[in-house]
Amino acid sequence: MTRAFWKSSVQKMQQKYGAPISDAQVEPLVDYLVKNYGIVTNASGTTVTTTQESDSSKAPPDGPGIATKYGCLVCHHVSAKIIGPAYRDIAAKYKADAEAKSKIADQVHKGGSGKWGPIIMPPFPQVTAGETKVLADWILGLK
Ligand code: HEC
Repeated sequence: MTRAFWKSSVQKMQQKYGAPISDAQVEPLVDYLVKNYGIVTNASGTTVTTTQESDSSKAPPDGPGIATKYGCLVCHHVSAKIIGPAYRDIAAKYKADAEAKSKIADQVHKGGSGKWGPIIMPPFPQVTAGETKVLADWILGLK
């Protein structure tokens, strides 16, 4: 989670739920949370569903953001082939395919090769179903 997220959580605990935290303790607490549960160490794809009220302080997940988080863009570029096919080419291939989304979800979770060439894409089982849907919508919407 981001620093802004943790800060708003700590302030909520302090102000709304009356936790015995003095103003001077807020920053060190936020520091601790960011350090241990911040963006850097929490790249494993765990989603937070317990703190819905605070979610407004977080940017909504978008395709490029998720693709960056999981390193998809190391191998995929929107409009150029790198190691994997360009996302635009994938969108073009699946334009008329009603099962495109489930095929993309399969590729992300299981990886594989042979559809575009001999190079194998590694599996990403840690990408959540919700994130996979956002990714598929984003990729298929590229023109
Ligand atoms: C190590 C490089 C690498 C990474 C990282 C990678 N891919 Fe791929 N991806 C590939 C390759 C290579 C292919 C072509 C596989 C084939 O020929 O079947 C591919 C194919 C695809 C396809 C096309 C599947 C199809 O049915 O035609 C999609 C969609 C895709 N990747 C999405 C992603 C997403 C989303 C991520 C991040 C979660 C990701 N890739 C990460 C290398 C990568």
